[in-house]
Amino acid sequence: EPNQFCDAGIGYDESMCGIPSSASSKLLIKGGTVVNAQHQEIADVYVEDGIIVAVKPNIRVGDDVTVLDATGKFVMPGGIDPHTHLDFEFMGTETVDDFFSGQAAALAGGTTMHIDFVIPVDGSLTAGFEAYEKKTKKSCMDYGFHMAITKWDETVSKEMELMVKEKGINSFKFFMAYKGALMINDDLLLEGFKKCKSLGALAMVHAENGDAVYEGQKRMIELGITGPEGHALSRPAVLEGEATARAIRLASFVNNPLYVVHVMSIDAMEEIAKARKEGQRVIGEPVVSGLVLDESWLWHPDFKTAARYVMSPPIRKRGHDKALQGALSTGVLQLVGTDHCAFNSTQKAFGIDDFRKIPNGVNGIEERMHLVWNTMVESGQVSVTDYVRLTSTECARIFNVYPRKGAILAGSDADIIIFNPNASFEITAKSHHSRLDANVFEGKKGKGKVEVTIAGGRIVWQNNELKVAPGTGRYIKMPPFSYLYDGIEKIDAAYLSSLQAPVNRAKSAS
Ligand code: URP
Ligand code: ZN
Ligand code: ZN
Ligand code: ZN
Repeated sequence: EPNQFCDAGIGYDESMCGIPSSASSKLLIKGGTVVNAQHQEIADVYVEDGIIVAVKPNIRVGDDVTVLDATGKFVMPGGIDPHTHLDFEFMGTETVDDFFSGQAAALAGGTTMHIDFVIPVDGSLTAGFEAYEKKTKKSCMDYGFHMAITKWDETVSKEMELMVKEKGINSFKFFMAYKGALMINDDLLLEGFKKCKSLGALAMVHAENGDAVYEGQKRMIELGITGPEGHALSRPAVLEGEATARAIRLASFVNNPLYVVHVMSIDAMEEIAKARKEGQRVIGEPVVSGLVLDESWLWHPDFKTAARYVMSPPIRKRGHDKALQGALSTGVLQLVGTDHCAFNSTQKAFGIDDFRKIPNGVNGIEERMHLVWNTMVESGQVSVTDYVRLTSTECARIFNVYPRKGAILAGSDADIIIFNPNASFEITAKSHHSRLDANVFEGKKGKGKVEVTIAGGRIVWQNNELKVAPGTGRYIKMPPFSYLYDGIEKIDAAYLSSLQAPVNRAKSAS
């Protein structure tokens, strides 16, 4: 019997879809250890109509309530992925995961919200927003938007205001790389930072020196290095460190908070550490690929295998992964994203003769929760409460949707996972839910398993089965002036009075 809820997308495995739970909208999760970022306790969680109504021990309910036993398991806020690219047109092609398949994969991996990057159309923010509104019609999970800024004029400046005040966007990404495509210069970066600051929006940067990358790429091609290893060799960590430092210094000059996306290297991480030590508000986001992989894959003799690992900034040498984990465990870096940007083998093969044409991007939206658990909690580097902070709560705070999202509290959205620390996971392209034909984390296994995912009060993942329906995801508007802006005006006032003091002295002396 055909399944009316299934998406007929090419390459999509229909077997993974089922009928969404039509069971009661009342749920009781019994006996689990409820974990929030600050505290954990054994308690029941009662949900009605998509909202958490109560969190306390021994809740009694009637028989119209679906009861889930979570004894011996962790009950945690669903993951929030701050960095994804679904249905993204990039490098002459389009990602295979759209807002249905990518979100279905996310839900199967315990992520219940993501924030995707709207790309303007010919520089128009409004046209970009409208295009993404269409793309998200088939959503089966809640999502928010960041927006990229790719050119600068009065219209863009006004549109930024519109996006923040009316459209629910509170963050803008500036690409310091991808010369000739998305890249912007320092002039635009400064204008953009100033505008972000006036709106209470968060400025985000893709930090690589795009001019130097362009030069590095030419150098490799001239040397006859055309394979995927040329990708790593052409854009070394020093170029990520330089751009990170530059963005941080310009943000300091403007005094606006800064968010560095996909921190891939020790070089970039140390710039963030230094700035934070001096009191600057800089957020650093490592991504799963950077935390658990190393660049050796790019030297794999099989092009198809090597090309899978091409993303920017590149996955670095062994050692960077461990250092990024350490930075995450000590608070130098604050949350984990994926940069899920899925291109299959056919698309990656565009660059068979020239690594510059390999579409950049790797997967992770489905794997993040398991890999962060295994890498950070199982290894003893962070606590279970920290895990919730890194995968969910901090993202909700930074993008100003806490405690609606990122918490298991009365009044929060019922985005919940039941996590069994004694079960195990294994990642394979055969069993994943992305439309990708391969997985950069193929064969990785470990302890811990998302056994149940509840999104907006619906059980969407249980017994290794997905039950999702297009159109059930909601757009989450994110208001400006998150906690990162608290007190900024006082710092500005102190700066201004420090400028005026010597001027006053000069006047009274004359
Ligand atoms: O290689 C990557 N990271 N692709 C996605 C675009 C970006 O820079 O985030
Ligand atoms: Zn289907
Ligand atoms: Zn980027
Ligand atoms: Zn990205």
